[in-house]
Amino acid sequence: LNYHVPRTRRDILEILLKGLRRLEYRGYDSAGVGIDGGNSKDWESNAKTIRLIKQRGKVKALDEEIHKQQDLDLDIEVDVHLGIAHTRWATHGVPSPVNSHPQRSDKNNEFIVIHNGIITNYKDLKKFLESKGYEFESETDTETIAKLVKYMYDNRESDDINFATLVERVIQQLEGAFALVFKSVHYPGEAIGTRRGSPLLMGVRSDHKLSTDHIPVLYRCSGKEKKSCSSLPRTDQDTCLFPLDEKAVEYYFASDASAVIEHTNRVIFLEDDDVAAVMEGRLSIHRIKRRVGDYPARAIQTLQMELQQIMKGNYSSFMQKEIFEQPESVVNTMRGRINFDNNTVTLGGLKDHIKEIQRCRRLILIACGTSYHAGVATRQVLEELTELPVMVELASDFLDRNTPVFRDDVCFFISQSGETADSLLALRYCKERGALTVGVTNTVGSSISRETDCGVHINAGPEIGVASTKAYTSQFVALIMFALLMCDDRISMQPRRREIIQGLRVLPDLIKEVLSLDDEIQKLATELYQQKSVLIMGRGYHYATCLEGALKIKEITYMHSEGILAGELKHGPLALVDKLMPVIMIIMRDHTYTKCQNALQQVVARQGRPILICDKDDHETIKNSSRAIKVPHCVDCLQGILSVIPLQLLSFHLAVLRGYDVDCPRNLAKSVTVE
Ligand code: G6P
Repeated sequence: LNYHVPRTRRDILEILLKGLRRLEYRGYDSAGVGIDGGNSKDWESNAKTIRLIKQRGKVKALDEEIHKQQDLDLDIEVDVHLGIAHTRWATHGVPSPVNSHPQRSDKNNEFIVIHNGIITNYKDLKKFLESKGYEFESETDTETIAKLVKYMYDNRESDDINFATLVERVIQQLEGAFALVFKSVHYPGEAIGTRRGSPLLMGVRSDHKLSTDHIPVLYRCSGKEKKSCSSLPRTDQDTCLFPLDEKAVEYYFASDASAVIEHTNRVIFLEDDDVAAVMEGRLSIHRIKRRVGDYPARAIQTLQMELQQIMKGNYSSFMQKEIFEQPESVVNTMRGRINFDNNTVTLGGLKDHIKEIQRCRRLILIACGTSYHAGVATRQVLEELTELPVMVELASDFLDRNTPVFRDDVCFFISQSGETADSLLALRYCKERGALTVGVTNTVGSSISRETDCGVHINAGPEIGVASTKAYTSQFVALIMFALLMCDDRISMQPRRREIIQGLRVLPDLIKEVLSLDDEIQKLATELYQQKSVLIMGRGYHYATCLEGALKIKEITYMHSEGILAGELKHGPLALVDKLMPVIMIIMRDHTYTKCQNALQQVVARQGRPILICDKDDHETIKNSSRAIKVPHCVDCLQGILSVIPLQLLSFHLAVLRGYDVDCPRNLAKSVTVE
C-alpha cells in the first residue's frame, strides 16, 4: 500500500509480481492479484471498484494475463493504492483461476482476501453462509472468509464500523491456520492483515523518520471488561506508526521477508491474532484481549538480509547456487561461535539455559523432511558427547502417537523455515507438557524461533530452492556445536572435542574439494538419468546421508529412490539388487567400515554394480567398484557433511537432464504451513 507516494499502476503491479516471484518457491500452481479497478486520476474513486486477475500456473502466466487486459490503464499515476497478490499451493480445490486467490465475497468484488493456511471449520461456515443466501463459486476454504467478512459488513450494527473490527469478528469464527490480507471497495486505501499459525510480516518504507520504533498493541478488552467493548479502540498518535514530517509511506504485507527486502529492511513480525490495520497512512495493531505474558508492543526490526542473497547470480537455479554456497554458509553458522585457538564454543541463544539442558533426562529432536535428517545425522555424536538418550522424531508421527513428554525433557525443533505446521504444533504440544524447547532455525523472527524458550539460528542465509541443501549442512553444524557445548567442562571428553573442533576448522575447504567433483558427478548423472530407481545404502553416520540423498532425488527428479540402512540389507532390500538396479553405497573409514565392506560384497555377489562414495585414500574399496566418487577424509562425525554433497549435486544434475524445474518441483512447497 503506497500512501502519498506517487506510483503508476505499472509500478504497483511490478512490485506485487516481483514479490510473488520471490515467494514463488512457497507454492506455484496458480497466482492472482487484486488492485483498484478505476482508470481515474483520483485514487479514491479508483478504489471503489476492484479488478481481479488470476491465472493457473506460475507468476509468469499471471504477468502475461495482466498485459492482456486492454481496458486497464497501466500508466495512470496515483498517490494511494492498495494491491494484494498471492501465489498458491493448492490444499482445497485444483489449481484453476477460480480457485486461486484473491477470493472474493461476491460478483462485485466488494471484499477480497488472500490466505495462506487451512481453515478447518470451513464446511460449517460455508453451510451457514449458504443458508443466508451467499453463493459460492470456488472449491476453496478461503472463499468462506471473503463471504464471512461481507456477512459481517451486511449485518453491521452501524455505518461507521471500521474494517479492522469486521476482520476481528471474522477471525473469531475461524479455526485452523491463516495469514490473511483483506481489501474492500467499502474501505478505499485501507488494508487489514492478520494471522494465526501462518507467518505474516509487514515491511515499512519511508524516507522520513518514523514516529516510533515500537507500536503499542491496542487491546479491545482488558481482563474482565470483555462484554463492554464491542468495537476496536481508536488509534491515536501514540498508538500507531506513521512517518513524521510528511506522510509518504509504503506498507507491505508478506509471508516472508524475501518479498519485501528490495523495498525495505524495516519489518514488523505480527503475532498470532494480531490485526494490523493501515488507514490513512497509519498502521495500528489490535488484539481482542491481552494474554498472560504478551509483550504489549511490536518492534520494528531491521533485517540484515541483502537482496543479492535472494538472487540467483550466475547459477541456473537457486538450488545450484545454494549447494555451491556451502563452504560459506557453514562458516556463517560457526562465525563468532567457535574459537579454534582455544577450542571453545559459545552459543548466545542457549547461554541462559545450558545448565538446565545439561541436567535434563533426554533430548528429543523433532522435525520434518530434510531437517529431520539433520537430527538423524547428528544423533550419534549427540549421544556420545552428552551421554543422554536422544530421540529423533518426525513431527507428524510424534503428534500422532501422543508421545509422552516430561518436564525434564529438552525438545529441539529443527526447521529451516521455522514455520512448518507439524513442527510448530509439536512445539506447542511439548510446551504444554512443560518441556524446555529449543529452536534450530534459519529464519529470524519465524514462529518456531519466537515460540521456543531458546535456540540457535543457523545463519545459512535465505534458502530459496524447495529442495533444502545448505540449511541441512548448517543444521548439522549447529547441532554439533551444541553437542560440543554440552561437554565443554568434561575433562574426559576434551581430546574428542578438540578433534571435532579442528575438523570444523577445515570443513569449509573440504566442502570446496567435494564441490570440485561436480563435473564428474554430472557425468555420472548422464549415465543414470533414464533409470527408474536408485538405491542409496550406508550405515552409522551415513544413514542420514542415504535418507537425505534419496529425498533429494525423489523431490526434484521424480525418480524413485530409497535410502537403505546397510545393516538391514539382508533383511529385505537385497532382493532388489541385480545387475540393472543402480545402487549407490557410502563407505567411509569409520567404525562401520568392515560392516560396510560386507554389504559391498553382498551387493557385488548379486551382480550389483555399486557406485561408491568413499574416502579418496581408500584404495582397497575403490578397487572393488568400477565407479567411485572419492571425497576427502575428515572426523567421522562430520564426514556426513561431505558424503551428502555429491548426492545433492547428483540429484541436481539428474533433474536438469530429465528436463525438470529444479527450484519448483511439482506438488511440493518449500514451507508447509498446513498440517
Ligand atoms: C517441506 C520442504 C522440505 C523441508 C520440510 C521441512 O516439505 O519441501 O524441503 O525439508 O518442509 O521444512 P523446515 O522449514 O521445517 O525445515
